[in-house]
Amino acid sequence: MGNKLLNIKIQNYINANLNTDLPTLLLKKSPFPEVSMHEIVQQIKGKQVAQKKFPFLLKEGIIFPPQLNLEQSSSEKTAIYKSKLLKGEKFIDFTTGFGIDAYYLSENFKQITLVEQNPDLLEIVKNNWEVLGKNATFINQKLESFLKENKEVFDVIYLDPARRDNNKNKVFLLEDLSPDILAIQEELLSSADKIVIKLSPLIDLKYLVSVLPSIFRIDIIAVKNDVKEIVIFLSKEKKDFISCYCVNLESNEPVFQFTFGEEENGHATYGEPEKYIYIPNNTVLKAGIFNLISEKTELKKLHPNTHLYTSDALMQDFPGRIFEMENIDAKKIQKKSQYNVISKNYPLKPEEIKKKYSLKDGGEKYLIFTQSKKGKIILKSV
Ligand SMILES: C[S@@+](CC[C@H](N)C(=O)[O-])C[C@H]1O[C@@H](n2cnc3c(N)ncnc32)[C@H](O)[C@@H]1O
Repeated sequence: MGNKLLNIKIQNYINANLNTDLPTLLLKKSPFPEVSMHEIVQQIKGKQVAQKKFPFLLKEGIIFPPQLNLEQSSSEKTAIYKSKLLKGEKFIDFTTGFGIDAYYLSENFKQITLVEQNPDLLEIVKNNWEVLGKNATFINQKLESFLKENKEVFDVIYLDPARRDNNKNKVFLLEDLSPDILAIQEELLSSADKIVIKLSPLIDLKYLVSVLPSIFRIDIIAVKNDVKEIVIFLSKEKKDFISCYCVNLESNEPVFQFTFGEEENGHATYGEPEKYIYIPNNTVLKAGIFNLISEKTELKKLHPNTHLYTSDALMQDFPGRIFEMENIDAKKIQKKSQYNVISKNYPLKPEEIKKKYSLKDGGEKYLIFTQSKKGKIILKSV
């Protein structure tokens, strides 16, 4: 399949149609008898996704897999972050997929092995790695059977399990993933010094710690405040504590580090709004460290259920957004004025607030509708 698609005439046709409406294109007959229009559209989609997600693959000779594999692959940005945390001799990716993670994560290793159960996908990765000039051993096998036969010890095993189903309402358990990490936990630990696993942001951290006793590090990774991945590290070597990192890539916000369980003994101090208002980023919210943030930063929290913080002196090193604000009476809100509306621990949603006060969305200024210990309050940018 790969070779046919790389034919220069077909590649020219793909490149000429990068902005064509794909459903319309799909209805047409392929101008090339050797490839279907479906295969051509798949390549166009791949290039479109690559522009945003992995621009390093926008090169001649690269082949793209079906949509599902494109969606399942990591972005270049998160992969680069993870790559900086790993180094050693031997790296193995047990769930190679389209190989985006593997490409970056293996950067600081001498020997690279890529395992993938899907033969077509592995062929595509093999082609692409040749184009990119990267060497690896490619193994088309189920990792469970590879593990059973394997006698080698790796420095790092990487896994990015696939979701078995897309039922987003269901409680998200490790058993819902392929492979099932719980079932192979022991074998993994005896085959590598470090196991690194990428998980969905929907997974519950307390649950993870309860079922994976060998966990020693958790990274909550966002890109521009959109939480993309929970990455966990396992090792058979017993560690006394679990280090957690809240990371918001593509922002100027600092990484926030804490030890798992610290929140339970964390004490927030409370206060009414002062000059600066702080909204933690979504990695901090995912970590659920609402009291610890107040304790570690010495910022006051507005209310037990309002995760907004305040201070008179500016604390620039905050993992989130900082606003200079003042209290405002509801009567002073001018109709038809333009604001970004934020609602936190407040009975109305931003859309309802905008309707109630006839506000236009956007602009430079913010209105925060929230509650402090004294009751409902409205804060306005100064
Ligand atoms: C989420 S994707 C990995 C994406 C990859 N990290 C990337 O950046 O492109 C998961 C992959 O694991 C593979 N996989 C799932 N279960 C497997 C198993 N038991 N053995 C081998 N591969 C498996 C799937 O075929 C799929 O391609």
